[in-house]
Amino acid sequence: MLSNQAGDGKRTSLHGQWSSKLAFVLAVTGSAVGLGNIWKFPYVAGENGGGAFVLVYLVCVIAIGMPVMMSEILIGRRGRRNPVATMELLGQEEGSSKNWRYAGLLGVLAGIFILSYYSVIAGWTLSYIVKSASGVFVDASAAKVVAELEAFKSNTAQMSLVHTLFMGLTIFVVARGVERGLEQAVKFMVPALLLMMLVLLGYSITSGSFGAGVEFLFTPDFSKLNWGSVLEAMGQAFFTLSIGMGAIMAYGAYLPEETSIMGASATVVAADTSIAILAGLVIFPLVFSNGLQPDAGPGLVFQTLPLALGQMPGGAFFSTIFFILLSFAAWTSAIGLIEPGVAWLVEHFNKTRKEAAIIVGGVIWLLGFGSVFSFNLWKDATVFQGTVFDNLDFLTNQLMLPLGGLFIAVFAGWVMCRNSTADELGGAGTAYSAWRIGARVVAPIGIFLVLFFAIKNVVA
Ligand code: TRP
Repeated sequence: MLSNQAGDGKRTSLHGQWSSKLAFVLAVTGSAVGLGNIWKFPYVAGENGGGAFVLVYLVCVIAIGMPVMMSEILIGRRGRRNPVATMELLGQEEGSSKNWRYAGLLGVLAGIFILSYYSVIAGWTLSYIVKSASGVFVDASAAKVVAELEAFKSNTAQMSLVHTLFMGLTIFVVARGVERGLEQAVKFMVPALLLMMLVLLGYSITSGSFGAGVEFLFTPDFSKLNWGSVLEAMGQAFFTLSIGMGAIMAYGAYLPEETSIMGASATVVAADTSIAILAGLVIFPLVFSNGLQPDAGPGLVFQTLPLALGQMPGGAFFSTIFFILLSFAAWTSAIGLIEPGVAWLVEHFNKTRKEAAIIVGGVIWLLGFGSVFSFNLWKDATVFQGTVFDNLDFLTNQLMLPLGGLFIAVFAGWVMCRNSTADELGGAGTAYSAWRIGARVVAPIGIFLVLFFAIKNVVA
């Protein structure tokens, strides 16, 4: 085991530090803003009937997501190691048990599973850059765009190729290390994506069905809600904020002492939530004005956005830019998903960053074929939740992330002593008390109840 004890008793990280507070906020925002906001949020909201689901999602983001994110950052900064070693170290230091390391390990695994299908969908965005640039969506009808997606989904070779390409890009950045790799990739992507979404919003406002889209997204119809969809909304909150699996903990390990954890978390949560809602506001009006189905599933954005962009002046150009930005957003998220595993291999098995990135990335790449085939060769081989893709999605978002979040909240709220957490969060004001109630009571009980009732319903 490598030591990272600095002379003054404060630990430092082996992997370097963020050059500034802004760099940290950008990196965490870069990990949070991704396919989860633009691809996943609209389609799960669509499948679950809209408004009521969105409301539950927002409540989960604020009441559970915010305290868990702060807990994760503070644990990471205090331990300054990979999530597995940090949980082990702090578990001992706080007089509990080394076995907290298994909570870290659960996160490493979750990251590997998530990235295996995330990379496949990120591959779709890469393909859509090329399709857009070639002009296939210019003035295309809804039927044509849908047919294009169906043809793409059944093209196993092409999907394998772009999945491979995306994993290659991810391994490349991660192998280069924290400072040089991660920071540079996120600096311009988030503002650019935000701008692009605003342009698209302008278009969707004039699409003729803006009111219908807004109504779908914000009018809660609680009859459409059951425990399964409540769990899905909570899972989406975890997924979109990148919490519950140690990624933010790994990023927190590179955070300078003086940065405010509360401020950074609030910024990230606000940015992430705005982009998701914005995506919903862009997509649902287009769904209704073009007679598409809101519950179209994972293909939803790949139907609506090319269609809208194709009808705009300069459509091929804007569509190309949009999918480039979305690929960037996916890329910066992929880096966060693989980081806990890579940092663990580096510290625990003495691998170089490059070796670790290739090993973990290689495993993820192989696993990813399960999801590639879920859209073609193995489309009909369904068990439990459906295809391999559906099962991985359920296992990670709806079980592993909430469980990981539960462990993180309980650890920061109950296992760590008040002095340690107050030290990290900067004293004992109202904000600290609010966090503490969130981490000790609201988050654990909320997560537990939702998991309990949802699982009970599946079993019953
Ligand atoms: N938040 C990312 C998105 O919305 C996905 C994600 C989940 C993630 N867990 C993560 C990204 C951990 C980085 C690290 O697309």
